[in-house]
Amino acid sequence: MKLSLALATLAVGGASAFSVNQNGGLRTSTQLNVFRQPIMAGNWKMNPTTESDALNLAIGFCALVDTLEDTCGLDESDTCTEVVLFPPFPFISKVKDIVSEKGVTVGAQQVYYEDKGAFTGSVAASMVKSVGCEYVLCGHSERRTLFSDSDVNINAKVKKVLEFGMKPILCIGETQEEYDLGITEEVCAMQVSKDLAGVSKKDLENVVLAYEPVWAIGTGLVCDAEDANKVHKFIRTVLAKMYDEEAAQSIRIQYGGSVTPESVDGLMAMSDIDGCLVGGASLFSDKFARICNFKATEE
Ligand code: 13P
Repeated sequence: MKLSLALATLAVGGASAFSVNQNGGLRTSTQLNVFRQPIMAGNWKMNPTTESDALNLAIGFCALVDTLEDTCGLDESDTCTEVVLFPPFPFISKVKDIVSEKGVTVGAQQVYYEDKGAFTGSVAASMVKSVGCEYVLCGHSERRTLFSDSDVNINAKVKKVLEFGMKPILCIGETQEEYDLGITEEVCAMQVSKDLAGVSKKDLENVVLAYEPVWAIGTGLVCDAEDANKVHKFIRTVLAKMYDEEAAQSIRIQYGGSVTPESVDGLMAMSDIDGCLVGGASLFSDKFARICNFKATEE
C-alpha cells in the first residue's frame, strides 16, 4: 500500500465495467469510466492513553508498511491504497513525523468551524492544517451523539475544512433504531443533503464520504457487505441528484463499523465500497496493516 496524495482520477470516455485488481487497487466504475483510489483510514478515537504508546503504534505500523504488497511511493499511481491515520490532537505532529516517510498521511478527528478566538477547548482548521493534517473527520456519529454535533454545524465544519485546503471525511449513517424502522436511506439522504449544502461540485472532489451504520460501530456487528454496498449505491443516487452522475461516481465512499482483517476483503470486493474507516482494529498495527493490504477479488 502506501499512498499517493492524488484523488481518484476521472476519465470520461469508454464504458467500463467495475473491476479491481487482485490486490484491490484501481476501482473502475460503470458508464463513466471513473477510477476511485482506495482509501483506508485509522480513527484512533481517544486512544492510546499516552504519547509513547501512540508513537509506538505509529512505529509498529510503519514497520509493517514495507512488507505490504501494494506498495508505491507518494507520487506514484492512483492504483495504490491511500492510508490516513487520525491520532488524537496532541499526538498528530509526532505521528506525522514518523509515518510521513512511508507516504502515510495524518488527519484530525474534528475541528471547530470558527477561525479563532474565545472558544476554550476548541481547535481550528488552520491549526491542524499548520501541523500537516490532510484530512479532517466531520460528522462522526460519536460527535453527533455525545457532543451534539448538528447537521448545521457539520456543514459549517465541512466548508471550513475545504476552505483551508484540507479534505473532509464526512461520516453518515443510521442508528440501530433507524435501522429497525427501515429508514436507513432516508437518514443517509438527509445527512448528505444537509451536511453538503452549499458545497460546490469542484469542492466535492476533495470530499470523502464514510457510511458508518451506528449500530455497527464498536459492536463487532459488521454490516453485511452486500447491504453496505446497496447503501453506498443509494448515496451515489442522492449525489447524482444534488450534483450530477460524474460527481456521484467519482466520490470515494468508505464503509466504517467493526471492520477487521476478516471482513475487509469481502467489503472491498464490492463495487461501490472504496475503502474503510477503521476504529478498534486500527489500534493494532498488524490488523490495520492487513486491512490496508486487503485482497479484493473481481466481481
Ligand atoms: P470500529 O471499527 O471500532 O467499529 O469504529 C468504527 C468507527 O467509528 C471509525 O470511525
